[in-house]
Amino acid sequence: MTSLPLKEQIKAYWEERAELYLADPASTTNDVYLRELDILTIVQVLKTLLGAGPKKVLDVGCGEGYSTLKVAQELPHVSFTGIDYSPNMIRLARERLATITQ
Ligand SMILES: C[S@@+](CC[C@H](N)C(=O)[O-])C[C@H]1O[C@@H](n2cnc3c(N)ncnc32)[C@H](O)[C@@H]1O
Repeated sequence: MTSLPLKEQIKAYWEERAELYLADPASTTNDVYLRELDILTIVQVLKTLLGAGPKKVLDVGCGEGYSTLKVAQELPHVSFTGIDYSPNMIRLARERLATITQ
C-alpha cells in the first residue's frame, strides 16, 4: 500500500515501465499488435481531419514516442509535439527521435 496521491502512483507506474522496457515499444502497452491498429486509425482520422496543408498536432501522453513517430512519418506536412509527465518516457522518446533523424 502506498500513500502517494493517485496521480503520482500512475506516474511512478509509467516511470518504472520506461526503466524496465527501455526502447522496447512494449514500454507503453502490453498489446503491441493492438497499437499498430491504433496507429493506422489515428493516421486515417488525422488525414481526414487535417487535410493537406501544414498543421500542428500535440500528442499528450506520447510515452516513448513510438506511436507519435510512426504517425508523423505518414503525415510529413504535419508538425508533431509530444509531451509526457514521465521524464523517463521523454528521455526514451528523444533517443528514438535521434535514431531516425541522424
Ligand atoms: C498507455 S501510454 C500511451 C503512449 C502512447 N500515446 C501510445 O499510444 O503508445 C500512456 C502515457 O501517458 C502518460 N501520461 C499519463 N497521464 C498523463 C498526464 N496526466 N500528463 C502527461 N502524461 C501522462 C504516461 O506517462 C504514459 O507514457
